[in-house]
Amino acid sequence: MAVSNEREFLMIPGPTPVPDRVLAALARHPLGHRSPDFSDILMEAIEGLKWIGDTNNEPLILASSGTGGMDGAIANTVNRGDKVVSLVCGVFGERFAKIAEAYGADVTRLKADFGQPVQPDALRELLAKDTKKEIKAVTITHNETSTGVINDLETIAKIISDHGALSLVDAVTSFGATDVPIDKWKLDIVVTGSQKALMLPPGLGFAFVSDKAWQAVDRSTNPRFYLDFKKYLKSQKERTTPFTPNVSFILALTESIKMMKEEGKDNIFKRHENLRETLRKGVRELGLKPFVEEAYASPTITSIWPPDSIDVPSIRKQLKERYRITVADGQEDLKGKIFRMGHMGYVFERDLGMALYALKQIVGQTSSTPIKTGASAN
Ligand SMILES: Cc1ncc(COP(=O)(O)O)c(C=O)c1O
Repeated sequence: MAVSNEREFLMIPGPTPVPDRVLAALARHPLGHRSPDFSDILMEAIEGLKWIGDTNNEPLILASSGTGGMDGAIANTVNRGDKVVSLVCGVFGERFAKIAEAYGADVTRLKADFGQPVQPDALRELLAKDTKKEIKAVTITHNETSTGVINDLETIAKIISDHGALSLVDAVTSFGATDVPIDKWKLDIVVTGSQKALMLPPGLGFAFVSDKAWQAVDRSTNPRFYLDFKKYLKSQKERTTPFTPNVSFILALTESIKMMKEEGKDNIFKRHENLRETLRKGVRELGLKPFVEEAYASPTITSIWPPDSIDVPSIRKQLKERYRITVADGQEDLKGKIFRMGHMGYVFERDLGMALYALKQIVGQTSSTPIKTGASAN
């Protein structure tokens, strides 16, 4: 029987649950975006974002989703015909490659099977062959949301920085949930969005830009206007924005950052690791198998094989109708084959207890049920 009056529990990998405090901030009347009050709020948000990313790089705040940040990262640094390497182990790695191609870059994809991480050694080999240093940039998805794999960004970023190319990092589903120390790892552009671990609804994109990336911006000749990063930098230095910003969201962002400061970054990162462990252990106890191996399992998204006794659409439908819990389907070739549970941002062990209880009612105690196998099930 459908339950009508309960709050939906979003266990998709974004948008994620939004805390009441953040919702209350969103409900305030909008401020004038050229007012001194809004300037203070903007500066507070910028400082907070720098604190999360442990960086002095300016985070540009865009009225876009995460893809706007990815688009801007390419449009501002890569010229038509430039060589770009795209590390692809899922749908979002492929998206970055496609954006680079849309701007006329000459893209080489370094692929890993869905469910596997990108191999740093393969990248090292590829970049070592580029003795003329023609490769301008490498795109990388830190946390591949379509599969639930987290890539070894620290190692990959070091390889890119040793070569000299720019690292363009999609940290949409990792930033704020796991450590992404931008300066320490020398990440040139890091992109994220509001609707994931930052605990806001969709509506803001962010791009942190390094000094090295700003030099590339100076050299780049691509046509651009709304996503011209220099416009954002210039305005932010003047405590304002180039265009009408999403004022309510920036105000709400200061509230979510306050909450993050109260919890502490280390505690947040630990909480996400614990969520991964709790969920993986819990689904195994139900006789289900995580899709991704332990060593590179995401702290924010867990993909799961269904048991033979029930298919993915039925699991998703029953979770939704009986418990108002929404989980995600697999994407592309994995559609209908796995389901994905997001656990980032405002998500706690108690929530996973609820979700595991619901899952148990649906799949039963299936430890003796044969599990569908396929790719790299663990
Ligand atoms: C890893 C990753 N990159 C990029 C995106 C695109 O972000 P948006 O949908 O905010 O444009 C997503 C969205 O889920 C994502 O998970």
